Amino acid sequence: MKYSWFGASGTEANEAAMKIAKLYTGKTAFIVAVKGFHGKTMGSLSLMGKADYRAPMGPMYAGQVYHVPFGDAEAVEKQLEVCEKVGIGVAAVVFEPIQGESGAIVPPDDFWPRVRAATKKYGVLLIADEVQTGLGRTGKLWGVQHWDVVPDILTVAKSLGGGVMPISAVTTTEEIFQPMMYPNPFMHTTTTGGGALACSAAIAAIHVTLREKLWEQAAEKGAYLMPQLQNFVVKYPHVFDRVTGKGLLIGMHFKNPETGYKVAAGLFKRGVLVAGTLTSAQTIRIEPPLVVTHEQMDELVNRLGDALAEISRTM
Ligand SMILES: Cc1ncc(COP(=O)(O)O)c(C=O)c1O
Repeated sequence: MKYSWFGASGTEANEAAMKIAKLYTGKTAFIVAVKGFHGKTMGSLSLMGKADYRAPMGPMYAGQVYHVPFGDAEAVEKQLEVCEKVGIGVAAVVFEPIQGESGAIVPPDDFWPRVRAATKKYGVLLIADEVQTGLGRTGKLWGVQHWDVVPDILTVAKSLGGGVMPISAVTTTEEIFQPMMYPNPFMHTTTTGGGALACSAAIAAIHVTLREKLWEQAAEKGAYLMPQLQNFVVKYPHVFDRVTGKGLLIGMHFKNPETGYKVAAGLFKRGVLVAGTLTSAQTIRIEPPLVVTHEQMDELVNRLGDALAEISRTM
């Protein structure tokens, strides 16, 4: 991968990825995942796998979008086969390597390799949305590296700007990028995309990520934190359902949204700010900066233990 187009947000990178896939393949359909999240502008929103955000917006992308269960390689293979049989041209298959907003959901190990093989078989592009997983978060530089898969197009944002500067990128091969440059290099543009200030931040973020090997830190720290969270699942089975994720992309899943909300409130009260997911309050994500210290993680575990003990007493 060699050529990039820059925007300011993850959703812009995904809009650009959709356009590149359409331009290169001349096809228009997309295959995406239930509970997938790719942003909230109209194109990316069409790929969204949750009704709450799509339904109120009415018609969006005019081409076909097919949703399949995340992690189900057979469903992807079948959808590709059906589309070919009925003559529907699929531009790309778009997935997050590990679903972020749906609660750090890790697909089965055969998923990505089979999706890669199937997309090659049917001549369809594979887009990895690494907006949340990219640049080290899951314990590899890129999420897809957990399965040794190379997508055709990759999108990145969030940590590209160190989490604070608005910058995103869609990156692909020289060949696939051609129609973005010829015959019309203004095919897809935005005024502030690739601005000097945001790019300086991105260059610095990339240097720090590589110099500090932040993905190794994420892997090691995730391996330190996850078993401690798992212990709480065993200790409070009526509250805590399961822990999922890789590296420092961790999802704590509770028995129901009310309990999840109570845990989040209990942590807030103890000075730990956590976020639910856009899918449900039932799941709380733990996504600290990759430079989080072991002392800070111990503090999280202590305060979470406190909060869980309190909730469990009142149930
Ligand atoms: C996987 C993924 N794609 C895209 C986006 C959208 O990024 P942005 O909010 O910068 O538009 C997000 C944001 O959470 C995301 O997690």
